[in-house]
Amino acid sequence: MTAVVSHPVLHVVGLTKTFTIRSRGRSAALTAVDDVSLSLAEGETVALVGESGSGKSTVARCLTRLVEPTAGSVQLDGRTLRGLTWKQMSRAYKDMQMVFQDPNSSLNPRMRIADVLDEPLRLHTDLTAAQRRERVVQLIQEVGLGEEHLRRYPRELSGGQRQRVGIARALAVDPKVIILDEPTSSLDVSVRGQILALLARIQAERKVAYLFITHDLQVVRKIADRVLVMYLGSVVEQGPTADVFDHPVHPYTRALLSAAPVAEFGRPRTRFHLQGEIPSPVDLPPGCRLAGRCPMTRPECTTAVPPLLAVSADHSAACPPALYSPEAEPHSGPLPVPSVPERP
Ligand SMILES: Nc1ncnc2c1ncn2[C@@H]1O[C@H](COP(=O)(O)OP(=O)(O)OP(=O)(O)O)[C@@H](O)[C@H]1O
Ligand SMILES: [Mg+2]
Repeated sequence: MTAVVSHPVLHVVGLTKTFTIRSRGRSAALTAVDDVSLSLAEGETVALVGESGSGKSTVARCLTRLVEPTAGSVQLDGRTLRGLTWKQMSRAYKDMQMVFQDPNSSLNPRMRIADVLDEPLRLHTDLTAAQRRERVVQLIQEVGLGEEHLRRYPRELSGGQRQRVGIARALAVDPKVIILDEPTSSLDVSVRGQILALLARIQAERKVAYLFITHDLQVVRKIADRVLVMYLGSVVEQGPTADVFDHPVHPYTRALLSAAPVAEFGRPRTRFHLQGEIPSPVDLPPGCRLAGRCPMTRPECTTAVPPLLAVSADHSAACPPALYSPEAEPHSGPLPVPSVPERP
């Protein structure tokens, strides 16, 4: 169930990515992303959260075609992206840009900043060299740097300045959507706030939509209109940020929020623990993928993957209604769990 977004600028249905890997000497299917649907409205920020390995970056990489999705449809600004020629595709994809976690590795160390910013303009626009130079100066100023930075190489900038360049590069072709994969996690705490403020200002001015991937729930609370919680490749809960944070219903969301420091939410939360670690995404067991860790698992959880069901108008969770009630409490004693394959 996807939240209904009027006139979405990005509409993704059933996005799936399976990698073929070698595991114990044989080839195996690794399900990194499984049937993920999401929508983004103009100027909206949607956060994608979930523990390491849940498939967040793979969603981002599939959307920007850094990896080819196995299945799913993507509509960008009303245009379906499947079936386009390479040239049409590259033109369509300019509307969706990405900012990476580590600006160190995402900027070519041999290119001056002026050339880093000129490259997308050269590839995607018909601007003359003089127009592009003017645009490059506007871009560097828009992200709070000066013309003097254009002559430098990435190594001559600080981490925060490099991330500003990463943002300027994403803005160069005036995209409708920017996917930000942990854009502040490699930065000092003092610089993080500045980058978040810059992103907020850019969004207010340009009405660009953000798909914001982060582990920092405090940031999600501050900046995201809606949040999607991923576990082992699937979305297990989604809704307006305040609804999901104040009334989480899926056991995974409850555990994720209960593990966050109290200071992030301003009041103590009920402790809600999961057992063990995220299992291997290879040869996933049938049924709910949290069943092996969830303190509320019932036998029926192990037979079929629960669909996303409405909790309220825009809020949904993949857990049977009898269990997802916020009042439902974990049972004690041994869990009736299926055996979960080990990591490859
Ligand atoms: N190119 C690849 N080949 C094989 N497996 C991959 C590949 N890329 C990702 N995976 C696997 O897909 C799963 C999801 O990985 P992904 O990087 O999307 O997770 P993530 O949620 O972004 O994690 P993190 O929070 O640590 O960044 C993991 O099990 C990962 O090992
Ligand atoms: Mg990642």
